[in-house]
Amino acid sequence: MAEIAGGAPEPVVYGQSDRPPRGDYSRGGQVRADYTCPQNYAAYTAADHDIYHRLYQRQSALVPGLACDEFIAALPLLGAKERIPRFEEINDRLYKATRWEIVAVPGLIPEVPFFTLLANRKFPVTDWLRTPAEFDYIVEPDVFHDLFGHVPLLFNPVFADHMQAYGAGGLKAHALGACEQLSRLYWYTVEFGLIRQANGLRAYGAGILSSSGELAYAVQSPEPQRIALNLLRTMRTRYKIDSYQQTYFVIDSFQQLFDMTAPDFTPLYAQLKTLPELAANALLPEDAVIQR
Ligand code: PHE
Ligand code: CO
Repeated sequence: MAEIAGGAPEPVVYGQSDRPPRGDYSRGGQVRADYTCPQNYAAYTAADHDIYHRLYQRQSALVPGLACDEFIAALPLLGAKERIPRFEEINDRLYKATRWEIVAVPGLIPEVPFFTLLANRKFPVTDWLRTPAEFDYIVEPDVFHDLFGHVPLLFNPVFADHMQAYGAGGLKAHALGACEQLSRLYWYTVEFGLIRQANGLRAYGAGILSSSGELAYAVQSPEPQRIALNLLRTMRTRYKIDSYQQTYFVIDSFQQLFDMTAPDFTPLYAQLKTLPELAANALLPEDAVIQR
């Protein structure tokens, strides 16, 4: 893949944020036109590896009874836990399992390159790690969120196919001016989704699975609303990025998620343009509320 002549891609900030973009999008010309870059493994310090180890230890101790079975089964496939893994080590296993690969990126990337990577079964993983001050909470995705939260389910064939379809659907949504709507679906499924399994409600969303506080909150707290996933409903619902979710959407299986999202969304996007947006804590009479 060619590098951009004369410099690196532009940094990215989502939403109306005053925060400066966190990643280094120049890296001395190492960032390619598709926003991928080499994993800067030499840049990790002993302190970084130690933070990763402690994050991994804390989070892996929390997942029993709260994370879905597929996640728990695949978590050991991330390999090293006492240090940040090399992405190539994970790729040896991941490519064999589902023909997915992870690729390093310097931080958040724009919609089209993001969707393009997913459509090609490449999952972008931020390569830098949070600071010690961000041990409990970080707004932006870092290497721990991306690896621990997202990568285990890429070992599941149905979920893996769903992520590729999402990427292709994202490119279509971009052409139709519907990225905001589709990103809500991503938020409430891939990032904050819950699933009903034989042993009860479990988390499969990466934002929940990589959070020490929100994992038990999402699955067990009486506070938030839990509603059966409904495409139109979910894509009307705004979301908050800096607090626990007020509403979680629940699926029954990854096959259900795949089948529900397989149809052409073009008519849905047209319908969404006629419907008002909903607040993150809205509850409609027709919502199928899930009791835990
Ligand atoms: N089927 C959707 C479309 O036609 C794309 C999509 C797939 C969206 C998977 C989400 C998840 O736009
Ligand atoms: Co994420």
